[in-house]
Amino acid sequence: MKQFKRTTVTSALPYANGPVHIGHLAGVYVPADIYVRYLRLKGEEVLFVGGSDEHGVPITIKAKKEGVTPQDIVDRYHGIIKKSFEDFGITFDIYSRTTSQTHKELASDIFKTIEAKGGFVEKTSEQYFDESAQQFLADRYITGKCPHCGNENAYGDQCEACGTSLSPTDLINPKSAISGAVPVMRETKHWYLPLDQHEAWLRQWILEDHKEWKPNVYGQCKSWLDMGLQPRAVSRDLDWGIPVPVTGAEGKVLYVWFDAPIGYISNTKELLPDTWEKWWKDEDTRLLHFIGKDNIVFHCIVFPAMLKAEGSYILPDNVPANEFLNLEGDKISTSRNWAVWLHEYLEDFPGKQDVLRYVLTANAPETKDNDFTWKDFQARNNNELVAILGNFINRVLVLTNKYFNGEIPDRNRFTSYHKDVMYGVYASKFELEKSLSEFKFRDALKQVMDIARIGNKFLQDQAPWKIWGHDNDQVATDINVCLEISAILAIVMQPFLPFTSRKLSKLLNLDVYNKWFSFGIDKDFQSSNIIWARNTVEDFGKLDYNKTLLKVGGYINAPELLFEKIEDETIAAQVQKLLDTKLANEAAAYKPSPVKENVAFDDFMKMDIRVATVLDCQKVPKADKLLQFRLADGMEERTILSGIAQYYPNPEELIGTQVCFIANFEPRKLRGVMSEGMILSAEDADGKLVLIRPSVKVTNGVEVK
Ligand code: 2FM
Ligand code: ZN
Repeated sequence: MKQFKRTTVTSALPYANGPVHIGHLAGVYVPADIYVRYLRLKGEEVLFVGGSDEHGVPITIKAKKEGVTPQDIVDRYHGIIKKSFEDFGITFDIYSRTTSQTHKELASDIFKTIEAKGGFVEKTSEQYFDESAQQFLADRYITGKCPHCGNENAYGDQCEACGTSLSPTDLINPKSAISGAVPVMRETKHWYLPLDQHEAWLRQWILEDHKEWKPNVYGQCKSWLDMGLQPRAVSRDLDWGIPVPVTGAEGKVLYVWFDAPIGYISNTKELLPDTWEKWWKDEDTRLLHFIGKDNIVFHCIVFPAMLKAEGSYILPDNVPANEFLNLEGDKISTSRNWAVWLHEYLEDFPGKQDVLRYVLTANAPETKDNDFTWKDFQARNNNELVAILGNFINRVLVLTNKYFNGEIPDRNRFTSYHKDVMYGVYASKFELEKSLSEFKFRDALKQVMDIARIGNKFLQDQAPWKIWGHDNDQVATDINVCLEISAILAIVMQPFLPFTSRKLSKLLNLDVYNKWFSFGIDKDFQSSNIIWARNTVEDFGKLDYNKTLLKVGGYINAPELLFEKIEDETIAAQVQKLLDTKLANEAAAYKPSPVKENVAFDDFMKMDIRVATVLDCQKVPKADKLLQFRLADGMEERTILSGIAQYYPNPEELIGTQVCFIANFEPRKLRGVMSEGMILSAEDADGKLVLIRPSVKVTNGVEVK
């Protein structure tokens, strides 16, 4: 394998049209940050580039909806997103934006270079034009009827009701989303990147030379390549974006997917105006793109083709893309507010960044889509972070204080047994590094926890509390070993749980902590954590099976808990929040059915609707849907069957309540039982039937008018 001198790590630039959520963190930013922190801990030269993607149609749509400018939208969300990343300890070397001057210039320059080399083809085609708004319509700006499911509000690029990808000409009765006018076809010229001309080298480069890419990434590339590549337009008729920098291109901007990946380069240039090129043009630099699966084609095919056409840039060595994270069984969606937003999480769980980082890594969608549930979040916190990692560290710290007044004791009874234990610890550390080098972050985190498991087992087996007073040298040695394991944990956990690592380093008085603490950077925990992470370099290098990290005779600090239990009520509140969102979405999406034909007063009066009290209510055997009611109707009693069993799983709870029923509904036999009327229910937006009742108790048999 080629040895590189340095690594450039990029992570997808999120669209600045909404805040970031757990799906972003799990799919892209936490794995990228883990990897970068790990490289820094090994003392490698690494650059971590992030930023906001601030062009594209969704941003203009949002601006129009709110009656503000696209710049207002991106200014708002760029700030929110940047802060969320800082709060979660994502240690970008730069987090900039694609509306920066440096970016506009570089994206234009790259376009011009490719253009000058004849790397584009120009083509004229017909596209929808809104005559009243006097503009061409982006696919998202055209709505109409979906030819597949009949949804009247499908977009020109996709029907959100059935999920089908569409092109605007597929829509039945297309309309402009800007003016409502029926669009007409008009000719327009665009610049295309002829991907078909790049296919041969892309096949060789990906399918032959990069067989080591993750199967989900390799597989997606292969299927694109096998389908045959088509030229792709890299310009758009739009007024938000970077103008196409050639004459005759008035009113046209670079397609957002042309300029966005160049953002990685321009952000590097903004940070390092004099030395940026070595991170992008030197064959000894290893380029890695961390992205989600929806970005694979752009990073593995389109962007490399752009770079190749330009001619002076390196290509990615790997693109460790993740699949998607769902939330409680449903796709995360910004527009449906179906997400756990990072800024809201921190309001509800202040200081618990590492718990979320842990859960999202332990359950990362590395090879397939995965689901985040609040129950799993609670279980992993309580059963893993608290019960395994926190418990081990706490016991060690408490015992050191209890038996040795916080002084690190000597290990003069160190035996081959202790050696074996340490060998196990170092074997896990070895596996952990192997997993990280293969981008297997879930496995790597498990190997960190395995070290804590080894510590717990050792402590339990040795039970120093049983021998204290009989063999204090033995206790001293055991505690020394436990403290050493704790120190190793503080270092190996840093990429995954940086806030906890820092806290533990402080509790153990590790050099790595004191070095930075002495600079007085401890006031602002969040940002100093990032400074700290950038500078705690080479600590993986200190991990050596033949050496110790701690010095006998040094002192640790007073114990503090690393994690705390999360209670059922806290989780129930989060689940309720999501249920409220679901109900609000259903209510917003609910379209009342058209009102039926008018009925004359006399016809209405023919209906005899009354109130009755439920005397008895039971499920009808072998009929899933039916409940059998016995009602006191003010006259005699009557039996009515109603198809609402699935909505009232405990029918006995209805006894004593009142219902409304149609008394003169023609009796009919259902499942051998005569049903003498019909009980009234309302059908909620989600199809659930709810019984209708008087708001206060009334006399049985009274009429509803
Ligand atoms: O999918 C997205 O959120 C895009 N904004 C990612 C862009 S990645 C890169 F090319 F900048
Ligand atoms: Zn559809």
